[in-house]
Amino acid sequence: MTDLLEIDDLRIRFEGAPGHAVDGVSITVPAGRRVGIIGESGSGKSVTAMSILRLNDERIMSYSDDSAIRYRGEDLLTAPASRLRQVRGAEISMIFQDPMSTLNPVFTVGEQIVDVLRAHRPYSKAAARPVVVETLQTVGIRDAERVFDRYPHELSGGMQQRVMIAMAISSRPALLIADEATSALDVTVQAAVLETLGSLADNLGMAVLMITHDMGVVARFCDDVYVMNGGAVVEHGPVADVLTAPAHPYTQKLLAAVPRVRPVA
Ligand SMILES: Nc1ncnc2c1ncn2[C@@H]1O[C@H](COP(=O)(O)OP(=O)(O)O)[C@@H](O)[C@H]1O
Ligand SMILES: [Mg+2]
Repeated sequence: MTDLLEIDDLRIRFEGAPGHAVDGVSITVPAGRRVGIIGESGSGKSVTAMSILRLNDERIMSYSDDSAIRYRGEDLLTAPASRLRQVRGAEISMIFQDPMSTLNPVFTVGEQIVDVLRAHRPYSKAAARPVVVETLQTVGIRDAERVFDRYPHELSGGMQQRVMIAMAISSRPALLIADEATSALDVTVQAAVLETLGSLADNLGMAVLMITHDMGVVARFCDDVYVMNGGAVVEHGPVADVLTAPAHPYTQKLLAAVPRVRPVA
């Protein structure tokens, strides 16, 4: 059976830099599964994640010719721009750490989600509103009618991140990539947003690729985990296995930094 997403021997070189920033990374995301990528800052997580939707600046970097990123068997690294535009947002969505870098300050959050929805689905503006309000409710926003008409800066960080999730899932993607999307939130808000994201993923049958430097997020949220260090995957497997018996010294170091996710002996 073909997996939903298969990153196959991804190698990335930045112009002028020695060596590869990403050096032979292979990651599999089966449909509906929650897969984590963990590693410290600079380990290549974001560059890897951005490759999936070809969001890296290809004027200053290049992919190795024998690398592939197959989405339902189709290689996105060689797909034409027109095909990538169809995939982005509609089949694969991505959310980032800073919602304010994606949200436009001069439009209400409702208007912005309506625009995203209508870019991918044939709704009139009037017909889109109740759909968007319902989506805001599904991401845990109770007064969704009121929030629809709010500007981004009028919302808290947690609410802004929920709005980003609503925008990302409005067209029912098969895969959501979250790059440190809950990292800026305080611990209780982070837990609540992860909880919402998890039940959404289950309800929609949506796979999630969760990029984080936080082993606690992996422990709470993910089924599988890939540990990255220096542009390579040093260890991967089901979260339960990796957390109980980390094979690689680097994984052991990451785990030691978060003592409370260690299982009680
Ligand atoms: N614009 C860039 N120019 C040159 N090198 C870059 C650029 N962006 C990323 N890199 C290289 O890729 C490595 C991985 O970066 P990144 O994927 O952003 O790390 P992470 O998300 O794990 O913190 C960096 O350490 C750097 O060497
Ligand atoms: Mg990053």
